[in-house]
Amino acid sequence: MIIAIDGPAASGKGTIARRLAAHYGLPHLDTGLLYRAVGAAALEKGVDVADAAALAGIAAGLDVGALDAEALKSGAVGEAASRVAAVPDVRAALLKLQQDFARQPGGAVLDGRDIGTVIAPDAPVKIFVTATPEARAARRHRELVGRGEAVSLDEVLADIRRRDARDSGRASAPLVQAADAQVLDNTQLDVEGSWQAALALVERARAAR
Ligand code: DC
Repeated sequence: MIIAIDGPAASGKGTIARRLAAHYGLPHLDTGLLYRAVGAAALEKGVDVADAAALAGIAAGLDVGALDAEALKSGAVGEAASRVAAVPDVRAALLKLQQDFARQPGGAVLDGRDIGTVIAPDAPVKIFVTATPEARAARRHRELVGRGEAVSLDEVLADIRRRDARDSGRASAPLVQAADAQVLDNTQLDVEGSWQAALALVERARAAR
C-alpha cells in the first residue's frame, strides 16, 4: 500500500506521515529532506540557484542514508530548499530514488508536494493536508523559537506565503492537490485531532479498495 501525503509548508503532513508509517509498519520517506539537503549543500558550497547543472550534480550525489533531519530543519535551509526545488534538473535527479522508494514491496508512506501527482500517481491512498497560512505560521514559529531561532511571527508568516507562492507557482511539478486526493484541513485541529482525522481517511480509502 502506497500512502501519498502532500501539502504546503508546516501543514503537519510530516507528523501524519511518520505516524501512519509507524501505525501500518511501512517505511517512510520525508521527500522535503531531499530538497533541503540539496539546498543546504548549495548554501554551503556557494552554488547559485541559477546553476542548474551544479545543483543537479549535488542532487544526484546525495547520500540518502546519511541525511541529518535535525540539521536540515532551519528556516534558511527551508528557503534554499524551496528555491532549488523549482529547478527541473534537480527534480529529475531525485525522481527515480523517490519512485523506487514508493514501489518497494509492501508499500511505503511518502510525504512532500508532488507525491500524489508525480511520484506515485497510482497510490491508492492520497491525502492533501492543509491549513490556513496563519495557522501554519503559528506552528512553524513555535517550532523555530523552540529550536532557538530568533524570528518573529510576522516574518514566519511572510516566509510561509512566499514559499506557498513559489511551491505552487513553479512550472515543474508544482504543489497541487491531486484530483483523487482527500483533503484534510487541520486549521481547527490539534496534533492528535489531525492524526485521528488522517487515520480515518486512510481507513476509509482502504475499506473502499
Ligand atoms: O516539506 P519541507 O518544508 O521540508 O520542504 C522543503 C521544500 O522542498 C519545499 O519548500 C518545497 C520542496 N519540496 C518539493 O518541491 N517537493 C517535494 N516532494 C518535497 C519538498
